[in-house]
Amino acid sequence: MPDQPNQPQQMHNINHTDLQNFVKQILIANKTSPEHAEIVSKCLVSADLRGVDTHGSNRIPSYMERIRQNALDPSAVPTIRQVTPAVAQVDAHNGFGFVAAHEGMKLAISMAQIFGIGMVSVKHSNHFGMSAWLVQQALKADMMSLVFTNSSPALPVWGGKEKLMGVSPIACGAPAGEGRPFILDMAPSIAARGKIYKALRRGEKIPTDWALDKDGARTDDPAEALQGVMLPMGGPKGSALSVMMDVFSGVLSGSAFAGHVTNPYDPSKPADVGHFLVAIKPDLFMTIEEFKGRMDYLYQRVVDSEKMAGVDRIYFPGEIEMITEEKRLAQGIPFATAEIEGLNKEADLVKVERLKV
Ligand SMILES: NC(=O)c1ccc[n+]([C@@H]2O[C@H](COP(=O)([O-])OP(=O)(O)OC[C@H]3O[C@@H](n4cnc5c(N)ncnc54)[C@H](O)[C@@H]3O)[C@@H](O)[C@H]2O)c1
Repeated sequence: MPDQPNQPQQMHNINHTDLQNFVKQILIANKTSPEHAEIVSKCLVSADLRGVDTHGSNRIPSYMERIRQNALDPSAVPTIRQVTPAVAQVDAHNGFGFVAAHEGMKLAISMAQIFGIGMVSVKHSNHFGMSAWLVQQALKADMMSLVFTNSSPALPVWGGKEKLMGVSPIACGAPAGEGRPFILDMAPSIAARGKIYKALRRGEKIPTDWALDKDGARTDDPAEALQGVMLPMGGPKGSALSVMMDVFSGVLSGSAFAGHVTNPYDPSKPADVGHFLVAIKPDLFMTIEEFKGRMDYLYQRVVDSEKMAGVDRIYFPGEIEMITEEKRLAQGIPFATAEIEGLNKEADLVKVERLKV
């Protein structure tokens, strides 16, 4: 956390390969196998590259604290139970959510390659960061996907005032040909809670429609917002989507649900997060070329649509993040001084070479 929460921080650009190696070394030094450290570091840096800074490498200190407090087992190996030929269950055994979900999507893809669809439920897992990396995993195999997870209480249900449902993201995707693939990845709140943590780290204010403080008043102070509740997008509809994530990821899997998932920043006990992953073969009803051609047509229709006043360009879902990724691959990923200090503190604890700026 920054020493002076209200002072905007100086930014430094970090090369993505250096960052991934650095994160990987910290993970390995904290009892994660090199194979699992590769998966976790790749997912975190993929979020950094796509501009989802809230769910990238800056999460390392909170994840490492969970390891130190025995709330997360870095050496857990997920186990698989094949339920039907197209349905499997993964038990994460309280290991990294990234590792269990990666294994789950790999399974879903291999089942979809044979049966057209593969469905995987993951239990006893942890936070897996940015959902879009699982959509990207499916896209690499030319698969459509649904990626759901539940999360710790942050939102009231519509009409309520206590934190009960998670700001649980809904993600899905579909491959394209020449155009950009479709990647939707959205939290059912007006803004993801990670954006409030990021504002706090960077000494920034937040828009007043994101959250209420503990007394139920609108606030632009990230610290006060974290004491209160997030506001759902679209009123009761956002709160219903959050319940939906809990049904598919929590109730169905056998993991915690109904407000019982532990906050990733609370290292006192296991999180018991559930995930729900589906891979779908896009060429079930036509050839893959025809499907991709139709996706390209949809992309073009969307981005060429007539613009409302004040809009310069229309983007396809996921396109802004892809443009950011292209830029950051070339120019590096911006980090605030306090964020680099936070990461280097972790490096010092396990005697890993510090990140240079
Ligand atoms: N694992 C967890 O428990 C957890 C919890 C909350 C959020 N998250 C992650 O936080 C991240 C941020 O979520 P968010 O809801 O704040 O995302 P967001 O509001 O930045 O984007 C949501 C979606 O809208 C699209 N979009 C945004 N602006 C657009 C525009 N101008 N035109 C067209 N499309 C546009 C994006 O491509 C994206 O698919 C996600 O990656 C999510 O997975 C994870």
